[in-house]
Amino acid sequence: NAMLAWQRTAFHFQPPKNWMNDPNGPLYHKGWYHLFYQWNPDSAVWGNITWGHAVSRDLVHWLHLPLAMVPDHWYDANGVWSGSATKLPDGRIVMLYTGATTESVQVQNLAEPADPSDPLLREWVKSGANPILVPPPGIGLKDFRDPTTAWRVPNDTAWRVAIGSKDRSHAGLALVYRTADFVRYDPAPALMHAVPGTGMWECVDFYPVAAAAGEEINGLETSVPPGPGVKHVVKASLDDDKHDYYAIGTYDAGADSWTPDDAASDVGIGLRYDYGKFYASKTFYDPVLRRRVLWGWVGETDSERADILKGWASVQSIPRTVLLDTKTGSNLLQWPVVEVENLRMSGKSFAGVALDRGSIVPLDVGKATQLDIEAVFEVDAAAVQGVTEADVGFNCSTSAGAAGRGLLGPFGLLVLADDDLSEQTAVYFYLAKGTDGSLQTFFCQDELRASRANDLVNRVYGSLVPVLHGENLSVRILVDHSIVESFAQGGRTCVTSRVYPTRAIYDSARVFLFNNATSARVTAKSVKVWQLNSAYIRPYPATSL
Ligand code: FRU
Repeated sequence: NAMLAWQRTAFHFQPPKNWMNDPNGPLYHKGWYHLFYQWNPDSAVWGNITWGHAVSRDLVHWLHLPLAMVPDHWYDANGVWSGSATKLPDGRIVMLYTGATTESVQVQNLAEPADPSDPLLREWVKSGANPILVPPPGIGLKDFRDPTTAWRVPNDTAWRVAIGSKDRSHAGLALVYRTADFVRYDPAPALMHAVPGTGMWECVDFYPVAAAAGEEINGLETSVPPGPGVKHVVKASLDDDKHDYYAIGTYDAGADSWTPDDAASDVGIGLRYDYGKFYASKTFYDPVLRRRVLWGWVGETDSERADILKGWASVQSIPRTVLLDTKTGSNLLQWPVVEVENLRMSGKSFAGVALDRGSIVPLDVGKATQLDIEAVFEVDAAAVQGVTEADVGFNCSTSAGAAGRGLLGPFGLLVLADDDLSEQTAVYFYLAKGTDGSLQTFFCQDELRASRANDLVNRVYGSLVPVLHGENLSVRILVDHSIVESFAQGGRTCVTSRVYPTRAIYDSARVFLFNNATSARVTAKSVKVWQLNSAYIRPYPATSL
């Protein structure tokens, strides 16, 4: 079936077949980036979870390797679940992961490479001491999973590791343990953090970001201590609503506790990494390019039946660098790793395209199924000033999407659209204005007309995006067959969609600019569109690397 075959992506990481979920244990070792992932060897639905493994020189081209771990002990018989890698200063690599036991109790286990001198780290040995941690008193036997990368603090030799959970009152929380040898663990005196009402925290992540202007161009190694110029991020994947939430705050290394800068946008009630389909993410520190890189699991939004028909489910997001946005101080910036730009082939540029109210302008870009787009928009200032109030209380997800018409939005791009626009995924801005003159900018992605298929969950996703004085509106969009990943204002707000067009595929896919506002004229100041090459994602063994 050509339609199903078209959905497979060309430069997003995917296993050759079957079900994938969380990224696990990313790390850099001897010239190779390693990615492990939750994988079902038997089918395109979740189950029998093992650790798949692949390596890359550049985070874009991949070589599949044999499975790293399978459920072969009582302590992981019901699944080798998510976990994280830690590289110790002496070169030792420690992998901590959750096992679902024969009784489906969640315990933490330790594994290490059989041969750390193997750049490909093909063989993994589980510790004879497993399980090394079991659910503590007060914590449910099935609410204790996904250990983080370990870190150290000044004046103490013990390593720290955080594990997500929830308490009896349904507060989501992260526990911290201290360990000298990764075999014996002591609980820290207090919780790292807890947020009422947020439920089970899966795949907790914890890392420092540079907070001083000028220093913030690099990511920080996980053990960089708190202090002036450093902030710490806590991320939790909320089992209740399947979104990844983060907050920026301060880490107290003595108590191993963390406090958000802004309690009103705490973990689980405030910012998300991505307002679309993106979950169970994890970062790692890349010592080569001195950056922190984020991977997220992007699942399917079609039916399980369709997944079984096509024989696979899920992709990994494009790896994203993560930095603190020191201009706002209150959000992260996520951006596709620079290596993605090596896939750029021919490009087309458009400048100063006037988008009158209610207009749609086709862009002649040739083939439009694998694209990298950078667009900058300017809204006519007089039109904004001329409006006293516009769409106060706007919300992407409850709006009518790109078909709705407000005074100052929506305007943006349509990708994976066919000639007569019977299918289209809209990526756009929408301005709201209060009577006090305050402006709010929203960034949304509308899947409502993305496909004519009827087995889909289609939504309008999005959120506020900070826009500082004097800034134009800008967006980067990666289109790769069935995924659209968008980054507004340099990555302050991100939205990922899985889309399943039936007509806007192969040579029929198009790109348009649109402005559906009734009052604001908009200019697309510059639009650059590159065709992206396919990445090599080779089976193992490869004839050449
Ligand atoms: C998140 C998650 C983790 C768990 C794993 C099991 O998607 O539920 O909490 O370790 O997936 O596959």
